[in-house]
Amino acid sequence: MAESKFSFVFQSIRQLLWRWRYRLLVATLFMVAAKLASVAMPWALKHIVDGLAPQGVDILIVPVVFILLYGGLRFAMTAFNEIRDTLFARVTEQAMRQSSLQVFDHLHKLDLGFHLSRQTGALARDMDRGASALSSLVRFFTFSIAPTLIELVLVVCILIAAFDWRYGAVTGLGVLSYVLFTAIVTEWRTRYVRQANQLDSDASARAVDSLINYETVKYFNAEQYESTRLDAALASWETARLKTRSSLAILNGGQALIISIAATIMLWMAGHDVASGRITVGDLTMINAYLLQLFIPLGFLGTVYREIRRSFTDLDKYFGLLRISGQIQDADDAQTLTQVKGDIQFHNVDFAYHADRQILHKLNLTIQAGQRVALVGGSGAGKSTIARLLFRFYDVQSGSITLDGTDIRAIKQEDLRQQIAVVPQDTVLFNDTLAANIRYGSVNATEDEMAQAIAMANLAELVEKLPEGLQTMVGERGLKLSGGEKQRVAIARAILKRPRILIFDEATSALDSHSEKLIVDAMHKVTEGRTAVIVAHRLSTIADADNILVLDEGRLVEQGTHAQLLSKNGKYAQLWQLQSR
Ligand SMILES: Nc1ncnc2c1ncn2[C@@H]1O[C@H](COP(=O)(O)OP(=O)(O)O)[C@@H](O)[C@H]1O
Ligand SMILES: [Mg+2]
Repeated sequence: MAESKFSFVFQSIRQLLWRWRYRLLVATLFMVAAKLASVAMPWALKHIVDGLAPQGVDILIVPVVFILLYGGLRFAMTAFNEIRDTLFARVTEQAMRQSSLQVFDHLHKLDLGFHLSRQTGALARDMDRGASALSSLVRFFTFSIAPTLIELVLVVCILIAAFDWRYGAVTGLGVLSYVLFTAIVTEWRTRYVRQANQLDSDASARAVDSLINYETVKYFNAEQYESTRLDAALASWETARLKTRSSLAILNGGQALIISIAATIMLWMAGHDVASGRITVGDLTMINAYLLQLFIPLGFLGTVYREIRRSFTDLDKYFGLLRISGQIQDADDAQTLTQVKGDIQFHNVDFAYHADRQILHKLNLTIQAGQRVALVGGSGAGKSTIARLLFRFYDVQSGSITLDGTDIRAIKQEDLRQQIAVVPQDTVLFNDTLAANIRYGSVNATEDEMAQAIAMANLAELVEKLPEGLQTMVGERGLKLSGGEKQRVAIARAILKRPRILIFDEATSALDSHSEKLIVDAMHKVTEGRTAVIVAHRLSTIADADNILVLDEGRLVEQGTHAQLLSKNGKYAQLWQLQSR
């Protein structure tokens, strides 16, 4: 694991937990107190044993004080540990909530380019893993790493002070080689663990993707194909898991060997010292108790170490999400928009999604405020790209796009987007009620505004027909509504948003002529007094536009009104003839 990953994760956790530093300090004090109590217990035990051992002719006296002390220490240890746990748990829970929210907010800030290139299932998994890694890291650190370290230092000091350096040395060396061995072997097997994780992610992303495409799978009778593909992914996962298991066996075996050797040497030395009278039987009991106390929790160190490694890997990904910065950022001196007219201009715009394939070439176009302007052209001509650029999902490579004369890169994204509503070709709805989906355009809309928007979008009839009306659940992605109904929901949403600029991106292409008529009709009502950009496939729907821009492979080839373009007898006239046949 690279050094920078450790420090990055540490830094991130430190920043996250800083708010609760005093609470954590108190919790740490309780942790130390609990350890002091637990280390004092074998010492009390020694005095009990020595008190009972016959020394000369003295009468045996039960060492009541030490027995009571022993009981008291045991209780104190448990009580302090419980207080420690409660304090830490509250911090962990709050930190998980805060960081999950932080990551979620950040993901929404990233640009469309990032989200299109990421699989949502895998992303959700990374988020889940990260949040639980955070909790296990804190838990392991406070429950095992820190207490064991404290205990180790205390025990080694006591052994050296009470007996001689050999006991301290064997204990110290034993623990040290145990930790080193664990670290080295874990290093070696981490790649298997990581591989297994990756394959696990792949398999589950594949399953999710397949289920999302349920309909497509059915249309093509592709169940068997999907199943075979998933099984291939699962098979590699299985192999990786097996390697993980067998390397784990090597780790556990080695650890057991080290513990056994250290314990044998200690008892060997203590046995000799008791025989030669240098230490008492009580001392031997104490040494034995310390050994047990130290090595029993160390038995879990293997698991803990692996989990911590895994947590670091997961947290690196998790906090790494926060480090990804979107391509699209507000300029430091970004302007707030107040009054917007809706004049749009593209000046010499060059644009490419990927450097090796240019989509728009030196594009110039003007859309005047209040105009209804149509974009037409073959599939792949760049129509949707123009809409995305205007919404600033991407930035242009050269040239500029202006709104009322201001470069959109100089405007706050939130303000710019507040002015633009988009009705896409394929509307996806939230798995919620019809009302909630419409209200998404403006969460504070009144009932009147809702009713108005519904009427304007030609949705009123549908709402009346539905037994549950506006409270109808629309299903995942809105699948329980027809294409035309979804589009009208999208229009109602757009109306509630009250934008200055409306973009309809092939809003009617996938629909029958009745639905199309309803939507074109709604479109007319909505665009009244606003700037409208209508991307259309069927030219009859935009024949009355104020201006028609004809695109071909990212270039503007013609523009004018329907009549002007027909008389030009160019590309548009060709398309028109093709469609009226
Ligand atoms: N996110 C993307 N990454 C890479 N290429 C893209 C992306 N989106 C669209 N394209 C490509 O850009 C070209 C123009 O797309 P688009 O503007 O959607 O065309 P249309 O005019 O049909 O709406 C197409 O050839 C398409 O393959
Ligand atoms: Mg398109």
